Order: sequence, then C-alpha cells, then structure tokens
Amino acid sequence: MTNQLDTKSQAWSALFSEPMSELVKRYTASVFFDKRLWQADIKGSLAHAEMLAAQGIIGAADHADIQRGMAQITAEIESGAFEWKLDLEDVHLNIEARLTQLVGDAGKRLHTGRSRNDQVATDVRLWLRGEMDLIIALLADLQKSLVDVAEQNVEVIMPGFTHLQVAQPVSFAHHLLAYVEMFARDAERLHDVRRRTNRLPLGAAALAGTTYPLDRERVARTLGMVDAQGQPQVCQNSLDAVSDRDFAIEFTAAASLCMVHISRLSEELILWMSQNFGFVRIADRFTTGSSIMPQKKNPDVPELARGKTGRVVGHLMGLITLMKGQPLAYNKDNQEDKEPLFDTVDTLKDTLRIFSEMVGGRLNPATGQKEGGITVNAVAMEAAVKKGYATATDLADYLVKKGLPFRDAHEVVAHAVKTAQAQGVDLSELPLATLQKFDSRIAQDVFGPLSLQGSLNARNTLGGTAPAQVRLQIARHRGRLG
Ligand code: ARG
Repeated sequence: MTNQLDTKSQAWSALFSEPMSELVKRYTASVFFDKRLWQADIKGSLAHAEMLAAQGIIGAADHADIQRGMAQITAEIESGAFEWKLDLEDVHLNIEARLTQLVGDAGKRLHTGRSRNDQVATDVRLWLRGEMDLIIALLADLQKSLVDVAEQNVEVIMPGFTHLQVAQPVSFAHHLLAYVEMFARDAERLHDVRRRTNRLPLGAAALAGTTYPLDRERVARTLGMVDAQGQPQVCQNSLDAVSDRDFAIEFTAAASLCMVHISRLSEELILWMSQNFGFVRIADRFTTGSSIMPQKKNPDVPELARGKTGRVVGHLMGLITLMKGQPLAYNKDNQEDKEPLFDTVDTLKDTLRIFSEMVGGRLNPATGQKEGGITVNAVAMEAAVKKGYATATDLADYLVKKGLPFRDAHEVVAHAVKTAQAQGVDLSELPLATLQKFDSRIAQDVFGPLSLQGSLNARNTLGGTAPAQVRLQIARHRGRLG
C-alpha cells in the first residue's frame, strides 16, 4: 500500500484489472512534450489552491503546504533534478504526484473541484499567451529593422514589378515598407487572438462544472485573465471550456500567414541576391557555400524560411483537422494539439529573430551601431529600371496632360519604346527630335517626367512611392513602433 502516486494507474485505481502495456503507455503519454507547460501548470494550480482556501474548501495549512511543495518542485525542475516519469503520463500527473510525495494529503486535496480537462486547457492558454507576447515583440523588432533599412534607402530607385516584369520605378524603401505593413497586420491579428486566448477554463472541471462553491472570477483575476477594463474573463460554458481549441487554431492561422509573409520576403531576397539581379547582399553568416562549386554563396536562411512556411501551414491543417467532427466535450484527441502548437511557436520565433538580424544587422556593443544587415546595390537596381522602360507610363501621362486621350497616348508610347529598344537606349536617352516624331506635343519638359527621380516624385499620393510620402510613412511607423 502506498499513499503516493507512483504510476498513473494509481490515479484511477481499483477499477482496472490489468496494467497498461509498455507500447500503450508510450502511445498515450504526453509528458515528454507537455512538460514544457510546467510553469503554467504550477501557476494555474497555485491560483486554484488560493481560491479553494479563500472559499473554505481547503484549510489554510493545506494551502501553505501546497505553496511550499510547489516552490520546491519549481526549484527541482529549474535545476534539472526533477524526475519526469513516463508512467505518470503527463505534466499534470507528474507534478501532482511529486507534490503529494512532498506534502502528503494537501497534495491530494489540490485536485478538488478540478479535472485534467479544465487544467490542461488552462495551461495551454496561459503558456500561449506568454509566447504570443514574445512573438508580438519580435514582430516589432523585425518591423524596426525594415524601417531602419528603409530610412537609408528612400532615394534608392528599383524596378517595381508586376508579373515579375519591370513595371514602374519605386523607392527601395517603399518596397521594404510594404513588408512592414504585413508584419504590422500580423501583430494586430495576434493581439486579437490573445483576447480570446486569455479566458479561463478552470472551474469547468471534467465537463459539467463542479459541486464545490468555486470562485472562477477570482482565479481569472489571479491569473491575469482580464480584459482591457480589468474585468475577469471566464469561459461561460463548461462543455465548451474543456473542449475549445479555437484559440490554438487561430494562433496557428495567424502564424501561418506571418510565415507566408516571411516566405515572400525570402523569395525576393533569393531573387535579388542572384547574379541576374545583384540588387542586395546578405551577410555571409546567413549563407553557405557549395561542397562542389567553389564560387557559390547560397541563400540558405531565406530558403529554409520559405521551406519552413510549409511546415507551419501543415500544423494549421493538423490542428483544424484534429477538431473536425469531435463530439463534446473533452476527447483525448486534444492531446495532439501540443506538438504542432509548440513547433509553430518555435519555428516562428526563430524565423523572426533571424530575419530581424539578417535585414537590420546586429548591434556592435563597441560602436552602439547595428552592423551586417543587408547591403544594397543602388547602381544595379537603377540599371534594371532603365532596361525595363519603367517610365513609359510617365510618358503616357505626360501626353495625357497635353490633351491626348490616354488610350492614344498608350499607343504612341508603345511606338517610342519599340524605337528605344531597337537602339538599345532608355526613353530618356532618345533625342527630343526623335520623341517629337511620335507626337508633336512632346517638348523639352518631357525629360523631367522621363527621369527616374521625376517619375518617383510624381507619385505623390498617400501611400505612393514619392520620397516625400515614403518619409511620412517612416515617421508614422517610428511613432507607432517607439
Ligand atoms: N494530457 C492530456 C491532454 O493533453 C491531459 C488531459 C487528460 N484528460 C483526460 N481525461 N484523459 O489533453
């Protein structure tokens, strides 16, 4: 006879006539991955115990014992001395068993009015809330890196593309700020998911609520599960509370979209770094050589990030399919929510960290400056714009302003581009006399709009690429990001 839990069969005892096989134990256990929830598990247990004591459901001495035991368990886990047992299935039973070993009956009283079903749902929400806060901060870092590089490149002109064909000149800063918009939306989405994650399942017990006079709102307040006005946020239906994993799916969807944005940036970096473009370089520490071709520098980091996007989107498919057709309330299927969620968090955090540094560089403590971010080749960018006749629309707009209908202007310019192509020069390099053969309205003042700077400056609408607009956007982002 033993008064402590050494194996989980002792958690549900007498009813079972044979032990689990080793294979089934391994198949059903989650401790080797869900132990990562230990801090949230202890935090949730302490909040529950505090409330049980305040409500007179357990005595003050039991509460003190539970606090003491949990402090020791925390120290053991932090030092690596804690022995995680597969036999005890999961993080919850492992910690509870150790608590009972340390403090006796008080440990056995902790689970009053609680089930692992509401416990695990609470743990995952608490843990994910903390991770989302970290990810939101990392997204801010990445946006700042992009804004830093943008600020130095407002006047650098690159080809803007549609269909990957040179379309119109844009400021390189403007191009980078498009990504800042994407990552700002990602942060906004995470803030929104955080609101729905930060609600308390505890008190739902196994599925139906409990016969003890629990104060769920007190526990919510203790755990910081409150809204912007400080009102406690508690899941309002016990069946939903234990079975809902929407927050995990929403988070993974937001993470997938963020990775999709990263993959777009990756793809552009890969193109821009190729010999055909030569627009940018990234620091050597983000590239690798080839084992056979000595001249190669491969953009491994952006390529891997592009690849890892598939992995995160896969986790979204996994989680959403996990929930499909599940009857109420808790089902063991839900144990499968953890690994995809954990891997999504790990992948996203690493990717954001590495991209912040790859784009913006890292701080040199000696100089207080960031170094080793992307290097921009403005000459190559400008040459590429000229090769692509990116100011053709500007010539058409010029003719429209002189009274020609746009469709006719479009046709006139097509002829001009054909001639320039045949001579291997840019439109701005054609002599005035040649240009006037296409339309007599063309005069000396055409060369302003035909220049790259003229073309850029002219796109001075809100959100346009004119340097004046780009500077306004940089100031807005700086104000927002702090
Ligand atoms: N390890 C379980 C999970 O992750 C904890 C909840 C177990 N509940 C149960 N009724 N077996 O979902």
